[in-house]
Amino acid sequence: MRVAVIGAGVIGLSTAQSIYEQHHSALRPLSIHVYADCFTPLTTSDGAAGLWQPYLYDKGNVQETKWNKETFDYLLSALRSPESVQMGVFLQSGYNLCTERVPDPSFKDIVLGFRQLTERELQLFPGYNYGWFNTALMVEGKLYLPWLMDWLQRRGVKFHHRKISSFKELAETGADVIINCSGMRSGALQPDPELKPGRGQIIKVDAPWLKHWIITHNSSTGVYNSPYIIPGSRLVTVGGIFQIGNWSEQNSYTDHKRIWEDACQLEPSLKQAAVVQDWSGLRPVRSKVRLEWETLQAGATTMEVIHNYGHGGFGLTIHRGCAQEAARLFGQIVEQRGIKARL
Ligand code: FAD
Ligand code: BEZ
Repeated sequence: MRVAVIGAGVIGLSTAQSIYEQHHSALRPLSIHVYADCFTPLTTSDGAAGLWQPYLYDKGNVQETKWNKETFDYLLSALRSPESVQMGVFLQSGYNLCTERVPDPSFKDIVLGFRQLTERELQLFPGYNYGWFNTALMVEGKLYLPWLMDWLQRRGVKFHHRKISSFKELAETGADVIINCSGMRSGALQPDPELKPGRGQIIKVDAPWLKHWIITHNSSTGVYNSPYIIPGSRLVTVGGIFQIGNWSEQNSYTDHKRIWEDACQLEPSLKQAAVVQDWSGLRPVRSKVRLEWETLQAGATTMEVIHNYGHGGFGLTIHRGCAQEAARLFGQIVEQRGIKARL
């Protein structure tokens, strides 16, 4: 059976991995092909800070909370292996800061050691009077994506540097199943009025003395549109910008200035840090992740397509849970084909 995955960000690569793990066998070998016009280090998944943290509230979308938890538990178990270093996975603790008392977030029972901040801790952050401390995980795209590619390559998965214009184009290569992990550009393959860019811009700085992440929440500015500081394995990521409907991937001087001034107010020692890089990327924003199987018809061609995109500002946080679910849907297609073949 030939499987074509569109996309080599964290979603495409991890979905290819889960499909291989769940369905490849010597008796029934899979031929998996990944098609992308951008590979690591040039995807959105590479630019992201890589902190495991969902949006504060799931608004009843318990399925996404379940996928987030599956991802957290998977990454936590990876820490038991020395390979976690190559994977870019490590524990990291930090602060969520709010300007008013708010309900506990949906992830409070997923992360480690979740607790409210004490008065003394809050005194460290003037302007904030409520918040939480917890230990979470980092999964850095710049390391995790090369690790995933290597994992797949060693198992015979083929990579094609190519822009795909339609699902039909892949069906014509003989693909039995197409997995659509094209992130923000999925709308070009099939119109989706629900999918919108949530533009982000960050500054990477050299500040090895910072050991904890700090994320601020301001109900009037919305998600990730107020300052955050996230230390990584080498550099510290400073944000945040979240502009819905803005397609620009150019760095903006105005945004740089705002990020920097706000972050230096939150963490004055940043003034001593050397700026290494500015980066902008588009979060694939949707009211919920699109993770479903669809049978499409193009003339005489029938195509089985599994969509897995629309992970907003939490693609690294949710990727493994979504990949496992996409692989289960793949199993249903295999089963259905088996039944049809026997009829
Ligand atoms: P991408 O990484 O964009 O990959 C899409 C792939 O599809 C690419 O390989 C592309 O080339 C390919 N593609 C698309 N269309 C075609 C086509 N027609 N033909 C061929 N190839 C195609 N999330 C977190 O969990 N934690 C964080 O700390 C975090 N920080 C972030 C910070 C910023 C500033 C931003 C912008 C995002 C952040 N995110 C974070 C969100 C995260 O980056 C995304 O949710 C995630 O990268 C989406 O992954 P993806 O694989 O769907 O998309
Ligand atoms: C962001 O989308 O900017 C983001 C996501 C998760 C943690 C921190 C920042």
